[in-house]
Amino acid sequence: MKIGIDKIGFFAPHLYLDMNKLAVERNVEPEKFTIGIGQEKMAVAPITQDPVTLAANAALEILSEEDKQQIDFVIFGTESGIDNSKSAGVYVHNLLGINPYARTVEVKQACYGATAGIQMAKGHIALNPESKVLVLGSDIARYGLKTGGESTQGAGAVAMLISANPKIMALEEHSTFMTNDIMDFWRPVYSDKAFVDGKFSNEQYILFFSKVWEQYKEKSGLGLEDFEAICCHLPYTKMGKKALQTIWDERTEEDKERISENYKISTTYNRNVGNIYTGSLYLSMLSLLELKEDLKPGSRIGLYSYGSGAVGEFFTGILEEDYRKSLQVDQHRKLFSTRQEVTVAEYEEIFEDTLPVDGSAMELDIEKDPAAICVAGIADNKRQYVNKLR
Ligand code: HMG
Repeated sequence: MKIGIDKIGFFAPHLYLDMNKLAVERNVEPEKFTIGIGQEKMAVAPITQDPVTLAANAALEILSEEDKQQIDFVIFGTESGIDNSKSAGVYVHNLLGINPYARTVEVKQACYGATAGIQMAKGHIALNPESKVLVLGSDIARYGLKTGGESTQGAGAVAMLISANPKIMALEEHSTFMTNDIMDFWRPVYSDKAFVDGKFSNEQYILFFSKVWEQYKEKSGLGLEDFEAICCHLPYTKMGKKALQTIWDERTEEDKERISENYKISTTYNRNVGNIYTGSLYLSMLSLLELKEDLKPGSRIGLYSYGSGAVGEFFTGILEEDYRKSLQVDQHRKLFSTRQEVTVAEYEEIFEDTLPVDGSAMELDIEKDPAAICVAGIADNKRQYVNKLR
């Protein structure tokens, strides 16, 4: 039985910052951000968007009423969740009107959360072929104003419906993964900003890639020549390139050119959104699928997932016959073309604009936010969510 991605949705807030302008304000050459880091625009989440609403908005565009009845498991991958106890998925379950007879949990392992969700979903469907699992990857990446990580922030979510006989991509059997206890990036519960050892995190990302890739080749008997493309977790778009460069001389010049050309296409959406942590790998895959129009059904796509701390995994999928028909290309084109630019001063103000944490109430103006699902405020330490379509 084939199990894999049946539908995939994406959402980013309607505001963005131009990286060239951030560079000027930070006294950095713009090419450092646009070429050295490889980022053009950074999605900026207004106070009316949080990881719950980003995920709910991403899922809204893909789920039919029938899906909502068939989903029996909601897995929410995030590292910027809003509650240490209640799963962010429970809010989404309600906001979308998913049938009550579903399990809902939140999973956390930095940017690896959504991959863990997909693998759990795959096992669940192998035992329950009729079921559908909603896997969400949603985050707001915050390092802080004027920090080393500032240029690698972002916000957004990916929602995937995992099922038997998927319409987009069937996941293959082989997968290789590893864990090692390292401090390359972390966020203690008392901090709303991440701590990072930037250079060390880059090294570990590449090291994990080498290890899981080597193990994958051994286990599967496949090599670079068997792949149409390899998509990577993209904290910034130069990162995956650095990892892939380590395997360029394994096969022919043609293999290298194909993988590298497709890698470039797979970075387009991420280059314009920034790091969305656990959704980043899937945003990159979406970028490839939606923007490379002649990508053939039957193509094998490699997926490298990395979550600091750290867990890494390499796995693969095969594109289904009519996969293009299940993509939301026009919707995403519209999402990108209707975003509004903010100035650096506005971005700084939005960054500092957070909900109160002292129990006081706050009401927010959700009319300024075009998203269907928003945070409307907070009262009694409870976030107030609104689905404008209801
Ligand atoms: P930095 O110190 O700002 O930058 O840190 P740099 O000095 O290393 O320069 C970056 C690149 O720009 C270099 O290229 C420079 O040469 C180049 P490289 O040598 O790396 O190829 N450069 C220029 N290029 C063209 N024209 C110029 C120019 N000037 C310089 N004028 C760093 C960069 C990414 C470390 C920092 O932003 C950071 O700490 N970010 C956060 C951590 C991160 O993203 N790590 C990635 C791996 S870990 C991961 O992926 C997990 C993560 O997503 C979290 C999770 O799992 O939850 C982060």
